[in-house]
Amino acid sequence: MLVLGIETSCDETGIALYDTEKGLQAHALYSQVKLHADYGGVVPELASRDHIRKVVPLIEEAIKEAGVTQNDIDGIAYTRGPGLIGALLVGSSVARSLGFAWNVPTVGVHHMEGHLLAPLLDDIDLEFPFVALLVSGGHSMLVKVDAIGSYELLGESVDDAAGEAFDKTAKLLDLDYPGGPRLAKLADKGNSERFTFPRPMTDRPGLQFSFSGLKTFAANTIRDLKAASESGELSEQDKADVAAAFQEAVIDTLLIKCKRALKQCNVKQLVIAGGVSANVQLRAQVTELMNKLGGKAFYPAPAFCTDNGAMIAYAGAQRLLAGQTDELSDQVLPRWPL
Ligand code: KG4
Ligand code: ZN
Repeated sequence: MLVLGIETSCDETGIALYDTEKGLQAHALYSQVKLHADYGGVVPELASRDHIRKVVPLIEEAIKEAGVTQNDIDGIAYTRGPGLIGALLVGSSVARSLGFAWNVPTVGVHHMEGHLLAPLLDDIDLEFPFVALLVSGGHSMLVKVDAIGSYELLGESVDDAAGEAFDKTAKLLDLDYPGGPRLAKLADKGNSERFTFPRPMTDRPGLQFSFSGLKTFAANTIRDLKAASESGELSEQDKADVAAAFQEAVIDTLLIKCKRALKQCNVKQLVIAGGVSANVQLRAQVTELMNKLGGKAFYPAPAFCTDNGAMIAYAGAQRLLAGQTDELSDQVLPRWPL
């Protein structure tokens, strides 16, 4: 079965063709990062308009890259939510129109299910059940995955998502949008031991996260450094040290909760997915942890950590194989629990 995947939940237009027997056949991605950079964050109306501009050309590009024609496509998967409503409507309208025109079924996919299944785009020996840590710009959650479609939410953030905390702290350090990867790069040059950031909610039982306090701690640290500096500004080393200490606190906190979740579920496989799973330090430390625990860590390929069409095509293909398709009355879901 050849499935077209369409992702338009936020600021990336992601298109892919996934074949359930032959694997990924093509993927095309357009990032709107430059469009939103001047505003320091995603502007929903601009995002929708840019998806409209790019979605059809990218579908044509993916079909060409895969060396197929539209007649070879057996089904269409699109991101139904959660996300920005206008952006979601672009993908869903295009998916459903093409489904109608080509007479093939369509299926709406949960964006986070896409992220969590992304490692399976590679042919890996991941077996159910496993625990997944989903860390993106909009979500931080721990999920027990018993089978495709069978998800138990173990814990989530009570305030900011991990990626959001990265982006907000990056902004405090005057880094351009999107700050997460930039902060990570800066952290490489920093000394994480100079400041002791808290490890939020690790001193009590449970699997909830809270990251907004780390951003506040960073703001206070930066304020104190400015007050103590002759120029009233932070040096590059100051910034790198704050970045390193912040990043270490986030990773430490995530690791403590992952360890707890694995123990609670009595499983030894851990999947890390979502934009923050591209973080090199996080990946290294999770691998080390799983080696120590005698288990194994799985991540998506770096290109499929952040938003993309391949993960939607994959998740949608599994749903279509299971006989699930859309109802005409289905609507996009800007807020949609997993
Ligand atoms: O999954 P994603 O592309 O979009 C959402 O569904 O939110 O995740 C984007 C988030 C952003 O907050 C971005 O700063 C963060 O992932 N991110 C990173 C890194 N790469 C992306 N955060 C930390 N380190 C990175 N290397
Ligand atoms: Zn995402």
